[in-house]
Order: sequence, then C-alpha cells, then structure tokens
Amino acid sequence: MPLSATSDRGSPLSKAKGTFGFRCIGCGALSPDAAQDFRCSQCKNLLEITDSSWKSSNLPAETLKSIWHARRSSNQLLDLSGVWRFRELLPAPESADFVISLREGNTPLYQLPQSSRTTGVSRLYAKHQGMNPTGSFKDAGMTVAATFARQAGYHWVACASTGNTSASMAAYAARGGMRSLVLVPEGKISWSKLSQALDYGALTCQLRTDFDGCLRLLQELVRRAPVYQLNSINPFRIEGQKTLAIELLEQLDWHPADHIIVPGGNLGNSSAIGKALLEMRDLGLIPHLPKLSVIQAEGANALVRTLREAAGKQLVSVQPETRATAIRIGNPASWEKAARVIQATGGACEEVSEVEIAQAKAEIGAEGIGCEPASAVTLAGLKKLLRQGFVMPEETVVLVLTGNLLKDPDFTMEFHRGELFRDTLNESDNAALKPLRHPPVVLDASLEAVIQTLERAEKADPTPANV
Ligand code: F0G
Repeated sequence: MPLSATSDRGSPLSKAKGTFGFRCIGCGALSPDAAQDFRCSQCKNLLEITDSSWKSSNLPAETLKSIWHARRSSNQLLDLSGVWRFRELLPAPESADFVISLREGNTPLYQLPQSSRTTGVSRLYAKHQGMNPTGSFKDAGMTVAATFARQAGYHWVACASTGNTSASMAAYAARGGMRSLVLVPEGKISWSKLSQALDYGALTCQLRTDFDGCLRLLQELVRRAPVYQLNSINPFRIEGQKTLAIELLEQLDWHPADHIIVPGGNLGNSSAIGKALLEMRDLGLIPHLPKLSVIQAEGANALVRTLREAAGKQLVSVQPETRATAIRIGNPASWEKAARVIQATGGACEEVSEVEIAQAKAEIGAEGIGCEPASAVTLAGLKKLLRQGFVMPEETVVLVLTGNLLKDPDFTMEFHRGELFRDTLNESDNAALKPLRHPPVVLDASLEAVIQTLERAEKADPTPANV
C-alpha cells in the first residue's frame, strides 16, 4: 500500500495559498509555505498563520458582527459550523468542498450559580468546549487543519496525544476520507478517549513512553513519511481554536470579560485564544483585552516554572505526573506562544494540586454540567487567583471547560467511591471532598430499602443545592 496519495509532496501546502502565509514566532521570517514539521526553516521555531486580509480597514467590525450573526439562521454547511461561521478570520481553503465539518463549535456559555456563591464571583461563566462533537475543544481546530490536510491531498494524518486530539483527529479523518495514525502513551490515557479513536477507525499505537515521547517520535516520523501532523504545532489547528474566543465574545454581546481562565497542557489552546483576543482587539471587535490566565496541574507545571524560574526566556521541562491525564505534559510545544499571550493580555499562570482539581471537578459536576479533570483546573485556579487578589469578585470571569465529563469515567468513579486519594488525604482536604462524593448504593430490590435510603438522604441534606 502506498503511504501517500499526496498530490504535491515536498511542498505540501503550496496549493493552500490564499491571502495567508506563515510567520516564524522566533525570527519573524515570512513564508508562503510550511514544511512538514511546521517549523521555521531557518531558526526551527514554531510558525503562526498571518493573513493580510485581516487588516481592520478591510473588515469593519460592525459589518463582521452582523455577517456572523446573520449566519446563525442559515442552513448552509459552513454557516452551521461554529468555526467556519467566523471564516473571515480563518485561512481560506481553495474550495468549500474541501471542508470537513461535524458542526463543531456552537458550544454553550453557562452560568455557574453554585460556584458563584462559593467564590463570591457573581458573573462567573463556563464556556463548555466539551459539548463539541467528539467531546472536547480539539474539534474547533481539527476541522480547519483536517480540511487543509485533505486539500493538500494527504492520505494519512497523524498525531501524538493524551487522548482528546486523537479522538478528534480520528473522527475528522474518517469524515474526510483520510486514514489516521494515533500515538498515545500506554496506560496514561482514559479508555473513553482511546475507544473513540478505535471506533473512528484510527491505527492506534500505544507507545511505552509519555506524551512528550510520543510527540518527539511524531516529529521524526513526519520528516520520514508523508503523513500530515495534526498536533497543535500545526498552525491551522490554532486558527480553528481561535473561534472559541470569537464565539465567546459574541455570546457576551462583545463586552469583554475581565478574565478568561484556561487549562494549560501542550499550550496550543491558550495560544489560540490569545491570538484571537489580540486580533479582535486590532480589528476593533472588542474595546480592550480580557486577561488570559493559564492553569496547570502542580505535577505538570512546566509553564509555571518557565515563567517563575526562567522569566519566560527558556523552557523549564518537568517530569509530568497528574491524574488529569489530558494535561500530563512536561515539555509543552507552544510554551513560547502561550507565554507571550499571557504577557500581552496581562494574565497570570498558576498551578493547582490534585485535591483542588478533584474538588473543582465535583463542584462543576454539581452544577449539572460536569467536565473532565483537566478542565477543572480552571475553577481551582480561579479560587487561587481570588485568594491572591489577582481576580476580584466583582469582575466577570469565564472558565474554559475543555472536555466532557464522560471523557474520564474512571476518575469520576474513583472520586465518588472515595478511592481516588485512598488514605492520603489530610483532615481538611477530606472535609472539603466528603460532601461532594455521591457513591452508588447497592440495595436489595425492595421498595422498603429504597424508601429508607431516600429518607436517610433527605435527613442528611435537606437543602436542594440550588436554593
Ligand atoms: N484540556 C483537555 C481536556 C485536553 O485534552 C488538553 C490537551 C488540554 C486541556 C490542554 O490543552 O494542550 O492546548 O494546552 N490535550 C492534548 C491531547 C494534549 O492530546 O488531547 P493544550
């Protein structure tokens, strides 16, 4: 079987020329094409997409807002996508026929009444990217990057992943008639995510290494084989993920929140949100910038350490360990992009403990929303930023929930059964977590037993959570 059906190998994106091009974030070199590793041919730093048509003179802000709004009542494929609806700020494929869409984006912005009460932040929202077609924010970037892979004629797409990227990539490859190769760390991704990749038909390799090892190997692979890499090093992914922020601002009637708080793993998403905020500000779509803050798990805190110990000048890698497996990353590829947007928006970078993550996840679940552990770092981080006085209760705060509750059922079950931290919790952590646990009750199948259980539950906690 030939590995490639690429129409023009060696210059994989030369057919994708529109008005956009690639700029190196290190030396600033501009290029109409990108090499297969999406790195600058001169200094090897990452590329970003730039487009001359995004200049404000070409795109009056009010016109853009009304075009985007009008598309919400259209039934055209591109308009039904919550990503391509904002296509004026995306690189344009040569033809709409190349677009692979699963109607991604269009994700809800929820209020969080219970967390509002406990934190004192009355205007507290969750932008739930876990409500995307494959259950995570990855779909917003994948629709764009997979489209350009298809346009360039690739037969194989590939990624290294902690689970969500692989699920998303496999789905979009399947929809677009491409084959997909998934490299995941063995034993360190949830079965839900792995099972998605299998069902969508990916060739799935569980490698005896961590995510960083998988990504390193992928970088080698794309130099040797004609596979198109769909990690967030791919700048088309970043472009698609920008729409999270555009859609969010539209949902806020273009009144910028004071703070947007996002989890940090490989740091593509924070880079994308930051890029979108800066572009929206430059286009006059928003009058000022929200502060973008990135939260990591204490055990996978490379960016926190990079900013604290190296003043953001060079990456401080770590040996990652966290039960929030989606962000179990020690050598984040987009650290430089993320560090820049944190600085440009005046945001913060913090770390939270495993117990704080578990508590925040259960609290988001108790709102009737739920999320996966990595997403819960945002609420845990907010509490920390409030204690530090970086966020004030009267400010408007948006938490970006990146993955669906169903993505990691093992974590959830272990939490509720009290198995997650076994006997390692101190008294105050135990007191904080206990009321959030709702373990299943095994009973004889008798009405009496159910009624007794109901009465015990009512006695133990007579107040409905939302009153
Ligand atoms: N939240 C979830 C649920 C994720 O899956 C990821 C990353 C992140 C947050 C961090 O986002 O990498 O852009 O900083 N997951 C990748 C994956 C690494 O392979 O699925 P980031």
